Amino acid sequence: MRILLLGLGLAAGIGAAAGAEGLREQALQSFGPLPPAPEAPPALVELGRQLFAAPLSTEGGQSCLGCHDPAKGGADGREVALGHAWQTAPRNTSTVLNASLNAMPSWDLLDGMESPALSGLLAMKVDAAQVAADPALASGLAAAFPGQEVTVPLLAEAIDAYLATLMTPAPFDAWLEGDDAALTAEAREGLQLFLERGCYFCHYGLTLGGDGYYPFGLVDAEGTQGFVLSDTSEAGLDFRAAPLRNVALTAPYFHSGKVADLGVAVSVMAESQLGAPLSPEETGKIVAFLESLTGAAAP
Ligand code: HEC
Ligand code: HEC
Repeated sequence: MRILLLGLGLAAGIGAAAGAEGLREQALQSFGPLPPAPEAPPALVELGRQLFAAPLSTEGGQSCLGCHDPAKGGADGREVALGHAWQTAPRNTSTVLNASLNAMPSWDLLDGMESPALSGLLAMKVDAAQVAADPALASGLAAAFPGQEVTVPLLAEAIDAYLATLMTPAPFDAWLEGDDAALTAEAREGLQLFLERGCYFCHYGLTLGGDGYYPFGLVDAEGTQGFVLSDTSEAGLDFRAAPLRNVALTAPYFHSGKVADLGVAVSVMAESQLGAPLSPEETGKIVAFLESLTGAAAP
C-alpha cells in the first residue's frame, strides 16, 4: 500500500506563474469539491445518529460522540484517545467528518478495517442484545430494521449511514466551483505553495489525504523532531497521509498528538517529508490555505 507519487508529481510539472484560472485548473487536477452526501433511508440515518451518541460501551458507557464530537471538528482535542480499547497503542483521534470518503482507514496499518464504525463497536465491546433491549433505542431500531434481529454489523450499517452525512463543504469547495472571492489572496498563495512544494504528492483527492501510507520522516527522519511514537518508529511503520479537511479544528496533530500548533505541523511536514524548509511567511500562507478547508456539516 506504499504508493509514492513523487515522480509522478514532478512529471506533472507544476508551473510557477498561474493566473486565477490556471491555479484553479491545477488544483482541480489533484483535488475536487465535496460531492453531495449519498441518499440513505432517513430512518437508518436517524438511528445511526442516535447510536453514535448512545453510551454503548459495555465497559464504562463510552459513546462514539465522546471521542468524535462534530463540535470539536469530529475529534476530541486530546493528545491521544482515552479508553480501555485505545490504551494498548494510544493514537490521536481521527476526525469522523468526511471520513466516509477516506480510501484507507486509520493512522497505521495495524488495525486497518473496512468499516471504522464496526471497528469502533468491536473496540467498545458493544453487546447487540443489550442495545436491542434499550428502551431509548427501541423505536429507532424498529423503524430502521423492522422485524430483524439486532446484530453488531447491523448497528455499524446504521452508524456508517449517519457518518456518510457528515460532509463539510468549505470555502475551498466554493472556490474550486468558480467563486473567486471564496479564498483570500493569502490562502491562494498558500494553495500555490502546497502545489509547488509537493504537499499534494501525498495529500490529494477530495479529502486532501486519507488515501495512502508513507513513512513519517520520508526524506529527513530528523525532521520529525521526535513526534513519532517510539512503539511505531522502532517498528518502522508507515502512517496514512492525514486527510486535511477541517485540520484547523483538530489539534493536536500527528498520530502522536504531540504538536499543538498547525504552523509547526506544516513546517515539520516540509522538513520531514520534502526536505525543503519553509520560511515563516510561507508557512503562514499554507496555514491560511488549510484554514479554507474548514466547513460545517448540515444539521
Ligand atoms: C476512546 C475514544 C474513541 C471512541 C469511543 C471511538 N473512537 Fe473512533 N477513533 C478513535 C481513534 C483514536 C481513532 C484513530 C485510530 C487509528 O486509526 O489507529 C479513531 C478512528 C475512527 C474513524 C476513522 C476516521 C478516518 O480517519 O478514516 C472513524 C470513522 C471512527 N473512529 C468512528 C467511530 C465510531 C462510529 C465509534 C463508535 C462506534 C468510535 N469511532 C468510537 C477514538 C475513538
Ligand atoms: C510523503 C508524503 C507526505 C508529504 C509530501 C506531505 N505529507 Fe503531510 N502527512 C503525511 C503523513 C504520513 C502524515 C501523518 C503523520 C502521522 O500520522 O504522524 C501527514 C500529516 C500532516 C498533517 C497533520 C494532520 C493531522 O491531522 O494530524 C498536516 C497538517 C500535514 N501533513 C500537512 C502537510 C503539508 C502542508 C505538506 C507540504 C509542506 C505535507 N503535509 C507534505 C504525509 C505527507
